[in-house]
Amino acid sequence: MQLPGLIDAHVHTRDPGAPHKEDWGTVTAAALAGGFTAILAMPNTQPPITDAAMLETALAAARAKARCDYAQYLGATEANAEALPPLAPRAAGLKLYLNSTYGPLRLDDTATWHAHFARWPRHAPLVVHAERHTLAAAILFAALYDRPVHIAHVSRREEILLIRAAKERGLPVTCEVTPHHLFLTADDLPRIGAGRGEVRPVLATPVDQQALWENMAVIDCFATDHAPHTLAEKDSDTPPPGFPGLETALPLLLTAVHQGRLSMDDLITRLHTNPRRIFGLPPQPETLVEVDPDAVWEIPLHGWHTRADWSPFAGLKVRGRVRRVVLRGREVFRDGEVLASPGYGRDLRAE
Ligand code: DOR
Ligand code: ZN
Repeated sequence: MQLPGLIDAHVHTRDPGAPHKEDWGTVTAAALAGGFTAILAMPNTQPPITDAAMLETALAAARAKARCDYAQYLGATEANAEALPPLAPRAAGLKLYLNSTYGPLRLDDTATWHAHFARWPRHAPLVVHAERHTLAAAILFAALYDRPVHIAHVSRREEILLIRAAKERGLPVTCEVTPHHLFLTADDLPRIGAGRGEVRPVLATPVDQQALWENMAVIDCFATDHAPHTLAEKDSDTPPPGFPGLETALPLLLTAVHQGRLSMDDLITRLHTNPRRIFGLPPQPETLVEVDPDAVWEIPLHGWHTRADWSPFAGLKVRGRVRRVVLRGREVFRDGEVLASPGYGRDLRAE
C-alpha cells in the first residue's frame, strides 16, 4: 500500500542545545523511519529560536544534518514582535506559547499577544499552545484580527467542542491532535510510569479521548509533538514533559484504520493534504511511503532511531508498518534502515 510523504507540523529537534536528547540528524532519521518526509521544528531549543541569528544557527545545523525536508518555527517573546515579521518567509511559522511547557518561552500578558497578532503577516502560519480557558482567548484573537490561527495538540473535550463551535461560526481556526492523546489516557499512567507519562498537555480522561474521536471532522491534522527526553531524565525527580512519537504515529493510526475507527482518506488528509495546505508547503515530487498494512507487531520500549530511544506506547499491539520511503526520487528508508545521508533534507522555506 502506497501513501504520500507524510508531514509532521509539530516536532522538537533539541538542536541547538541538547544533542544528548536528539539532533537534526537523529530526529530526521526517526521521521523517515516513521513515514514522515517533512517536519516543522518547534522553537523551544536552548537557546530558543527567537531572532534572525538563532534562526540562522538552527537552519545551518539542519542544512548540515537533516535527512528529510524541514522548516523551522520562530518563538514569540515579550520583546520580539517587531523584529520577527521580516523573517516570516524563512520560517515555518510563529509559535506562541500561552501556557507553560518545556523551556522558557511563555507569553502571559495579552498586550504581547496583541503585538504579535498585529504584526505577524496574515498569510504566514501562526500556531498557539493554548489549553482550556486560554484556548478560548486565542480563538477570540483569531476573530479580533480575522487571521488564521492553528491550535497545537488539542487534548480535551471542552477544547474540541470550543473549536467546533468556532468553526461553525466561520472563525479561521484549524487544529491538530497528537497520537498520544488519541491512543493514551491518564488511565495508562500506572503502566507507563508517572515520570515517563509526563507530557503537556497532560494525558486526559477517557471522556476527553472519546470526544476527540467523536469529533474527527473537527480535527485538521495529526501531529506528533515528538518531544524527545532520555529515559534517565524521565525517571528522575524532575521529569521533563514530552514523548517521542515520530516512529509510532503511522502504525497506531493504521491500526485505527484496520479497526474501522478511521478511514484511509481521514489519515491521508490529516497527515499530508491539510498540513501542506495550512502551512503552505511546496509539493515533494517523486515522494512516497510504502506500508505493509497487515504487519502485526508489538511496540518495543527500545530500538528506535530517535536518540531518546523509548516509547510511551511500548507494549501496544499495532497493525501496519513502514517498509520503504522515497523522497524526491531517492530511496531514503528501507526495512528498518535509514538510507538518506545527513544534508539530503531540504529547507521547505528556501527560495
Ligand atoms: O510535553 C511537551 N513537551 N509538551 C510541549 O508542549 C513541549 C514539549 C517539549 O519540548 O519537551
Ligand atoms: Zn510541542
